[in-house]
Amino acid sequence: MKALEIKKGIYWVGAIDWDLSEFHGYLTQRGSTYNAYLIIDEKIVLVDTVKYHLRDEMLSRIRSIIDPAKIDIVISNHTEMDHSGAIPDIMNMAKNATLICSPNGEKGLKKHFDCDGWNFKVVNSNEKINIGKRNLSFVLMQMVHWPDSMATYAIEDKLLMPNDAFGQHMASYERFVDESLFDVVYEEAKKYFANIILPYTRQSTTAVTEVEKLDIDMIAPSHGLIWRGAHVEKILKGYDTWDANICENKAVIIYDTMWGSTKKIAMSIYKAFEAKGIKVEMKNLKKYHISDIMTDLIDSKYICVGSPTLNNTLMPTVASFMYYLKGLRPQNRIAIPFGSYGWAGQSLKEIEDIFKFLKYQILDTIKFEYIPKGNDLEAITQDLISKL
Ligand code: FEO
Repeated sequence: MKALEIKKGIYWVGAIDWDLSEFHGYLTQRGSTYNAYLIIDEKIVLVDTVKYHLRDEMLSRIRSIIDPAKIDIVISNHTEMDHSGAIPDIMNMAKNATLICSPNGEKGLKKHFDCDGWNFKVVNSNEKINIGKRNLSFVLMQMVHWPDSMATYAIEDKLLMPNDAFGQHMASYERFVDESLFDVVYEEAKKYFANIILPYTRQSTTAVTEVEKLDIDMIAPSHGLIWRGAHVEKILKGYDTWDANICENKAVIIYDTMWGSTKKIAMSIYKAFEAKGIKVEMKNLKKYHISDIMTDLIDSKYICVGSPTLNNTLMPTVASFMYYLKGLRPQNRIAIPFGSYGWAGQSLKEIEDIFKFLKYQILDTIKFEYIPKGNDLEAITQDLISKL
């Protein structure tokens, strides 16, 4: 397999995971890539590796340029095994290589692998190393999204390699965003942010602010396609917007239903938003995956969640969504729990409790015993219109 030169003397030597369908709960309909970069200079540098099962693909791309034994420096921007999985193989082949990582990277790698004999060099933000004609510097990106995360910046090439940040789960033949459909890549980058970066927007804001001080004409993340030219500004602006939690006057109604009553309530809520001219979307959890719904929620002011009561608790689909939401914790939303029930209605309290944990403003809780009848549904709509 071939390497692809992305800058003079700098090659993409990653692997394409066409089969990847999920990533710890995140639905990856388009697969993914694990991007590694090889820099040929007086020192030969490998920036990140790939998942273990795809190490031969990476090695064959490296071998199309050099013998992996000649690698002088391995940079581990992030310890998670989709990027570090092949480091032991490389360190075994390149016996004299130095392994560069952040302070937390060293701790993390030593807890993942048997690192006996590895020559670690720990770097901090703004530290610089010379590799010949080039200089590399580093930006620690703590908690974007692990404690060890950092970016490597090739100064003369104006190339940022920020690992997970700015990435997208997309398998493709193309390597650059401008060779693909921008809107599709941007939506996948938004989904990546919503499902991976969202709990750490404070740290992401700090990291992106540092990165924006650099002179960058290419951002080469560790997943998906590479941003260059005008697209660099677009993805930086996207992160600025998502980090700032800027919401539109928009609602998402997320629900499951047993005999259709909770769906009827959902439709009454929909009509209220529609009547007020507020953009609104319906997401039946039997149809939509929780990781895709998170992408819709990232810029939605209103979150409405409905569940019937089943076995004294939530429907399993709604429970799954609510716990995923609780972990990703988008901030400052207006919430509406709703649902039908038979005799106790515990599901409503469970939704309310998680909304309260997230410190959401609960605009209304709408519940019905068994089946809404007569004017009940119209009354829900009118009552909600008066509150919006
Ligand atoms: Fe792509 Fe956090 O690993």
